[in-house]
Amino acid sequence: MKIWLNGGLQDLDSARVSVLDHGLTVGDGIFETVKAVAGRPFALTRHLDRLARSARGLGLPEPDLDEVRRACAAVIAANPMALGRLRITYTGGLSPLGSDRGDQGPTLVVALGEAARRPDSTAVITVPWTRNERGALTGLKTTSYAENVVALARATEQGATEALFANTVGQLCEGTGSNVFVVLDGEIHTPPVSSGCLAGITRALAVEWTGAHETDLPLDVLDRADEVFLTSTLRDVQGVHRVDDRQLPGAPGPVTAKAMRVFDERAGDDLDP
Ligand SMILES: Cc1ncc(COP(=O)(O)O)c(C=O)c1O
Repeated sequence: MKIWLNGGLQDLDSARVSVLDHGLTVGDGIFETVKAVAGRPFALTRHLDRLARSARGLGLPEPDLDEVRRACAAVIAANPMALGRLRITYTGGLSPLGSDRGDQGPTLVVALGEAARRPDSTAVITVPWTRNERGALTGLKTTSYAENVVALARATEQGATEALFANTVGQLCEGTGSNVFVVLDGEIHTPPVSSGCLAGITRALAVEWTGAHETDLPLDVLDRADEVFLTSTLRDVQGVHRVDDRQLPGAPGPVTAKAMRVFDERAGDDLDP
């Protein structure tokens, strides 16, 4: 397995970053997960735009997006696989032992792992912890993901694959690594970015391609929605057949199934929409 580290391909087993990298010591970094299908990245331009936005939000040096593109192409070419999770990580780099960032320059890693196609529906839970819609990191895809680690572990314990958060004012927000959609009276709704959710790339495409509405929704909309689905880079559009103890028999329901079809068709037509 070859990865890209700071300017070139290296063997995964021997590639090294400093133990004082600010990404390791304080989670000062950003990332992207890109789907690679049969050797081609999906929606790479949107992912690179978001990487640059996250870097600006964290005050990291502007990433060299030409290098990141070259790195992605090199890593994908070096590790052929049917479905891959391409992971771009960009951190504050070698730094003092505190929250001040050093001046040695950022660390860039691009790595690829094998991924499996997700089932068409899954179970989710809700968690009592909140997303902060007014935080310094809101909307940025940072490597400070330990809250998601905790919430996802609880989901796994309960036989689910995703945990959904409300924000600080009780509105439905997002999952640990996905956005959430609900169907009410045949119409599709998803929380607006002002709820504090990540501006998911799959979310944006699903909104564009299905005409979903961006609506402030209370968390308990999950108790009455006719259908619920998730979107993310590796889930695409995925139905939900259980929310906590509530079963949604027949998931993916008809509106979700149509959204899945439309997504597959449009994504198949254009690899960089
Ligand atoms: C917190 C969070 N929300 C939503 C998403 C979905 O975003 P995307 O569709 O760009 O993968 C992700 C990404 O995986 C995420 O980490």
